[in-house]
Amino acid sequence: MCGIVGYVGSQQPSGRPLEVVLEGLRRLEYRGYDSAGVALVSPGASLATAKKAGKLANLVEEIDTHPMPAATAAIGHTRWATHGAPNDVNAHPHVSGGVAVIHNGIVENFATLKAELEAAGVAFTSETDTEVVAHLVARAYAQTPDLTQALRTVAQRLHGTFTLLAVHGDDPTTVVGARHDSPLVVGLGDGENFLGSDVSAFIASTRDALELGQDQVVTITPTEVTVTDFDGTPVEARRFTVDWDAAAAEKGGFRSFMDKEIHDQPQAVADTLLGRTDTTGRLVLDELRIDEAVLRAVDKIVVVACGTAAYAGHVAKYAIEHWCRIPVEVELAHEFRYRDPVVDERTLVVAVSQSGETMDTLMAVRHAKEQGATTLAIVNTHGSTIPRESDAALYTHAGPEIAVASTKAFLSQITAAYLLGLYLAQLRGNKYADEIGQVLDELRAIPDKIQQVLDRAGRVREIARWMADTQSVLFLGRHVGYPVAMEGALKLKELAYIHAEGFAAGELKHGPIALIEPGQPVFVVVPSPRGRDSLHSKIVSNIQEIRARGARTLVIAEEGDETVRPYADEVFTVPQTSTLLAPLLAVVPLQIFACELATAKGLDVDQPRNLAKSVTVE
Ligand code: AGP
Repeated sequence: MCGIVGYVGSQQPSGRPLEVVLEGLRRLEYRGYDSAGVALVSPGASLATAKKAGKLANLVEEIDTHPMPAATAAIGHTRWATHGAPNDVNAHPHVSGGVAVIHNGIVENFATLKAELEAAGVAFTSETDTEVVAHLVARAYAQTPDLTQALRTVAQRLHGTFTLLAVHGDDPTTVVGARHDSPLVVGLGDGENFLGSDVSAFIASTRDALELGQDQVVTITPTEVTVTDFDGTPVEARRFTVDWDAAAAEKGGFRSFMDKEIHDQPQAVADTLLGRTDTTGRLVLDELRIDEAVLRAVDKIVVVACGTAAYAGHVAKYAIEHWCRIPVEVELAHEFRYRDPVVDERTLVVAVSQSGETMDTLMAVRHAKEQGATTLAIVNTHGSTIPRESDAALYTHAGPEIAVASTKAFLSQITAAYLLGLYLAQLRGNKYADEIGQVLDELRAIPDKIQQVLDRAGRVREIARWMADTQSVLFLGRHVGYPVAMEGALKLKELAYIHAEGFAAGELKHGPIALIEPGQPVFVVVPSPRGRDSLHSKIVSNIQEIRARGARTLVIAEEGDETVRPYADEVFTVPQTSTLLAPLLAVVPLQIFACELATAKGLDVDQPRNLAKSVTVE
């Protein structure tokens, strides 16, 4: 997610505003970003801005080359690109009139607002949703020269998620912020005050902070902090003392990025869904920029990916085939091109990748293009190679995934692949609008359901700690539960260095059941009893078979499914949802189990041995 810092200090212009903001951005670098920028306000001088693509060092070099004026107020931003490539023009702050704005989040209705502004003669220079906000604030300020009121007026028009900071060249003693579904905290100083996307932005200067609630606007001056709601009604903000050290602050108070990112998953899924339907509820994936005729003519889909991303493809296969009646093959990218695949101009090759740099997957994309296929990248990282070399890209909005083991990107990849499947079904007429709307409604309910799973994870963690000395764990699943079982096994392998294997439950009798001996821990991902009955009854039989041979059965089951209890040593429940969406919930206990067990073993869950976050060699 983007990093945001704001500062206002003494009446005498100095270098401190810039120093504080750059230090804050350094402390927010862990959040991952692809460009950075600052805006300074000085009494009697116009707004000064500097912004550069790439790392903070590029911005610092720019400022060293073109020194910025002494100032009294400043805002700074590290951008994780969502709308528009990571380049100098799209970097924040965005300026309009005397206003500079920085933004974290996604403005879902920016296209409508942009069209309104262009119709009013406003010229745009960037591809970002944030520039729309800058122009709106400048126009509101021109009506009423009060920055706080201008930001309140604009904030009420925005849909989506946002943390906004704004300054105006006419007012060197004020920084204003607004938040909706995106974090913002206030740092309280002596003769100076701070704003940050999290406390690490100002922890070097103060640990005295104010928490801001939903739909609130905050105005900071050197001596005052005022908080109101979007209507201007004053609200009381909770004061607190930051008791994290700087390292913990970077992880939002979690023990590890792994733990933090598991808990980021509700937001990651919600953000991936944002901005992809129009006001009528129809799916709008214009960003694909693939000719509709090409998509209508597709007669096969091949997913190419590696590791967890491949398991996301396996999950999506069930949904896309069910919704679109198009055959979906899921291929390990490093195997794909060597098997001389049958690919032609009617094949849609979908490359799934968090980093967008996995060499195996990139080589598969190149091979697919040579064979005449249309290539589409489902990727989390803007500006990466795979989307650049693909014909189209559908971005997940999971935010930067720091831990090597993929979690929130996995759920976002599944979500994006579902959106693709529903879009194809909509375009090709396989499903009526109301059927697609129903699935979208269920998808929108998933973030809250993931949060419910996270909230009840205490037992999973307890079991994981008990099992810290386990040498082998098996994972079983059927249908969409099968790739979930595979992903659960991969998480345990890469985090806890334990032998783990995922199987299709139906495969048990064809060999793997020989592995079952007394005490052998086996996770079983049970499909909803409300879905295809044969799926559920068969996996209950599998549980009985392994239990009869002494296995320790750890069952992931839907709330209310009492049929599994007689055969389960442990039952971890997940909220009800439809069969095809269940993987978005069922995998979460398995992620937590692997992370907790590895932590109990004293292992580094963020940087597991032998692994790299992006495998850029074949
Ligand atoms: C997942 O936990 C692993 N880190 C690994 O399997 C990863 O999913 C795989 O290397 C693909 O990476 P990508 O999504 O960046 O292409």
